[in-house]
Amino acid sequence: MDTDKLIQTANSGLLSIVARPEIVMARGRGLVLEDTRGRSYLDFIGGWAVNCLGHCPEALVKALTDQAGTLINASPSFYNRPMLEYTELLLEQTCLDRVFFTSTGAEANEGAIKLARKYGQKKKGGACEIITTRKGFHGRTLTTMAATGKAEWEDLFEPKSKGFKKGIFNDAGSIRELITDETCAIMIEPVQGEGGVIPATEAFIRALRQICDETLTLLIFDEIQTGMGRTGTMFAYEQYGVEPDIMTLGKGIGGGFPLSAMLAKEELDIFDPGDQGGTYTGQPLAMAAGSAVLRELLARDIPAHARKMGKIIENRLTRLSRTHEVENIRGKGLLMAFDLTRTPAADLAERCLEDGLLINAPKPESIRLMPPLTVTEEQILTMFDILTPHLAER
Ligand SMILES: Cc1ncc(COP(=O)(O)O)c(C=O)c1O
Repeated sequence: MDTDKLIQTANSGLLSIVARPEIVMARGRGLVLEDTRGRSYLDFIGGWAVNCLGHCPEALVKALTDQAGTLINASPSFYNRPMLEYTELLLEQTCLDRVFFTSTGAEANEGAIKLARKYGQKKKGGACEIITTRKGFHGRTLTTMAATGKAEWEDLFEPKSKGFKKGIFNDAGSIRELITDETCAIMIEPVQGEGGVIPATEAFIRALRQICDETLTLLIFDEIQTGMGRTGTMFAYEQYGVEPDIMTLGKGIGGGFPLSAMLAKEELDIFDPGDQGGTYTGQPLAMAAGSAVLRELLARDIPAHARKMGKIIENRLTRLSRTHEVENIRGKGLLMAFDLTRTPAADLAERCLEDGLLINAPKPESIRLMPPLTVTEEQILTMFDILTPHLAER
């Protein structure tokens, strides 16, 4: 079937959730995606900060192929070899002691919220409230939507889960004011991703740790977007010198294979049997993918590479801001964003797409760059060559 016919057929079958360009992606390799018409795209979206090793990286393809020929699925009620090997490897890299695996970021966050409430019930007199932040993003299930701080979602799908209060990101005073005996946890992203790439300040993160310690409240870091090397260290918390009690991981953790994780300190190993589970927890293919991705990140010190490439992007953007409409350059590692003063960001992203460059416009005035962490300096220069002519001059 030709591409136009394919799109037409699918459009009458797929539930409408988002406007998509009339492009069908066919294959990918490294930083390049190719569509069914044979056009190539330099990918600075990376599957939404997911394809940390690029498209179809050899190590991931091999791990999945080998595992698919050995054991695709056993049952969550049995151990499997990749589950055990990956658990050890992942925990070795973190400050946390226990892990629960699942498939999507939202599910990992649901698990974190449940664990925090279990803690409240067992250790803090039934405390069940969780403080999150305005403009924070934690997922699209009803409970993670309730935890999310998007103003447009306030009245959507009511009644959502109760028990979430919203403070202001980077304003520790606003969080402290919301703490009561009912608070069991504070949950934040170290860099607000969907909210426009806003890094937490060191003072904010340190103050949150102090508030949590003083009030026996758990500190949850949602590192679904920031984890696995994205911000230039394996986990963003390392840059703040502060340890969370619970951390969630997603996106890059499977390099494109659906995988997420909820990790916790030893003393939070408090679920009762049956409280938590899932058909695909510890699924062998996902575990093999996770191991392969993590081994590559470590063997090639990809977090350090991300830090270096992020600096190159930041320096180029700073130079560009002197002559073109670029401002508010921000981010960490390879999670970068900037604002435009004249061109609508969606228009810019569309023009770049026509020229074979994929970039994301999370807000009407903002552009976000989150390429695979394996991006090279040459590819960064090519990205700027395509982008710059579409920017208005000062
Ligand atoms: C910080 C953060 N948390 C949670 C999620 C939800 O992850 P998923 O879409 O895999 O459920 C996202 C996705 O963008 C995210 O960026």
